[in-house]
Amino acid sequence: MSSLLAELSATAGAAFAAEGLAPELGQIQVSDRPDLAQFQCNGALAAAKLAKANPRAIAEKIAARLRQSPLVAEAAIAGPGFINLKLTDGALEERLQRVAAAPESALPGNGKGKRAIVDFGGPNIAKPMHVGHLRSSIIGDCLQRLLRANGWTVTSDVHLGDWGLPMGQLIAELAASRPTLPYFDAADRSPYPDESPVTMDDLEVLYPKAAAACKEDPARLEAARLATAELQAGRPGYRALWEHFHDATAVGLKREFASLGVVFDEWKGESDADPLIPAMIERLKEQGFAHMDEGALIVPVAEESDTKEVPPLILLKSDGAVLYGTTDLATIIDRIQSHDPNLILYVVDQRQHNHFEQVFRAAKKTGLSGKAELEHIGYGTVNGPDGKPFKTRAGGVMKLYDLIAMATAEADKRLAEAGLAADYPPEERARIAKAVGVAAIKFADLVNNRVSNYIFDLERFTRFEGKTGPYLQYAAVRIKSILKKAQAEGHAAGAPFIRSEEERQLALQLLAMPEALTLAENRRAPNLICDYVFTLAQGFSRFYTEHHILSESDAALRAARLGLSALTLAQIERMLALLGIEVPDRM
Ligand code: ARG
Repeated sequence: MSSLLAELSATAGAAFAAEGLAPELGQIQVSDRPDLAQFQCNGALAAAKLAKANPRAIAEKIAARLRQSPLVAEAAIAGPGFINLKLTDGALEERLQRVAAAPESALPGNGKGKRAIVDFGGPNIAKPMHVGHLRSSIIGDCLQRLLRANGWTVTSDVHLGDWGLPMGQLIAELAASRPTLPYFDAADRSPYPDESPVTMDDLEVLYPKAAAACKEDPARLEAARLATAELQAGRPGYRALWEHFHDATAVGLKREFASLGVVFDEWKGESDADPLIPAMIERLKEQGFAHMDEGALIVPVAEESDTKEVPPLILLKSDGAVLYGTTDLATIIDRIQSHDPNLILYVVDQRQHNHFEQVFRAAKKTGLSGKAELEHIGYGTVNGPDGKPFKTRAGGVMKLYDLIAMATAEADKRLAEAGLAADYPPEERARIAKAVGVAAIKFADLVNNRVSNYIFDLERFTRFEGKTGPYLQYAAVRIKSILKKAQAEGHAAGAPFIRSEEERQLALQLLAMPEALTLAENRRAPNLICDYVFTLAQGFSRFYTEHHILSESDAALRAARLGLSALTLAQIERMLALLGIEVPDRM
């Protein structure tokens, strides 16, 4: 189903065409002056410029044709030749009914027939996730949901950081602290034990120790480098040990992602690209894209038009170890082979922008990325009240798990203050508090322009008033409760109709959803979904304040208002689902 705006533009386009003018001039937009009109068309001004004619005269001819359309109630000329439009309530009602009958049909099908990969999350082995990964997870999850809703076939991939120097640092640390483990013998001593010598908790202690030791002691750093290269070269003991690091971490990470409600289609990592690296390197050498430079194998990616220096992508270090860029490049080959995507999005901290610039240039230049567009979806940092990257009270990096617990506790407090969920069974109340806490964190993240930094302020995020996740959850729950009561009283919802300005405005907002989702997709901008759903909830609130619903004695009117409420609820829930926010049944 085409959107209301698209239908209007088509109607106006036909009017221009009938006057011998280009149909593109009929592009309609939402009015800049909602007090004067619902929509406007500026095409007469452009047409007049082209034809050196009087814009008001052209506008008058177009308006006269538009008035013939069953969509249009009023077409007025304003200023130098703007056409201001108001639609008939009948047209709005009819379209609301269509959406109610087939909600899916209202979604824009921009991505039909196209495949996208969304690379996000990106936690690292042996390290717990921190707030930086939180942003990637929240934004990436929203984008995968949005693209799917808009018709794309999406594959998401967590792309674990599991193949770099930190792995060698851990191996070197264990070799120093527990040299009797069977993994350090250069000879293959397989089968190695099934039982991991370390748990996720051990790794959390070991990794910072390993990193610190490498900083202090050049010999240890050298050992870590060597271990990394040998792991990558396939030394059996190291490989076996690495499998344990990998599996122990994956369990913890999956639990964290599950508590955030984030699901990946693929649980791959840097290491999965490793088998593709030798052939890739051979090919790039043969084709003259890669050459040796001071012992390293590099692909130059600088371009004529660069205003600042863009260093080459390093494929191999002099010790033969591969780097972050090497695995990212080989991962593109894997993705092209397995999914043939039109688009790959990398939802990663803005500070990695230069890395992606190098990788994308190398992929394009060498033809590795085929038809796929590669895009870095950067984001800013989460800061504490001091404006510096967010830390725990003790000054450490805030873990995701603790963050969710903190938000849940704060949400619980807010529920108590608001007198919500007070007499519910404890498990239900706990579930609601968790849902509200997660909604608070997600919405507060997504509502910002993603490249901006923002200040982490749980007190503000969890409020039930203002532009917050909890406000929107509560708005949805309130509509649910109206509909439940209506059902209990035996009142069915009917087709919505429009008798008041609040109803008209709400209808227009509901019918503007396709444009909101298209714009959010085009700009990769979750904040536009936040803006849309917030405005919609406010529109409902104005309608609700001005009208009786359950207490309306005219049965037809009551049914129509229930219908409008049901439609609004469905749309709010759908938008919140795109943001990864769950709506409890009651609160
Ligand atoms: N593991 C990386 C980090 O923690 C993020 C990975 C992002 N994805 C990618 N394909 N490089 O910074």
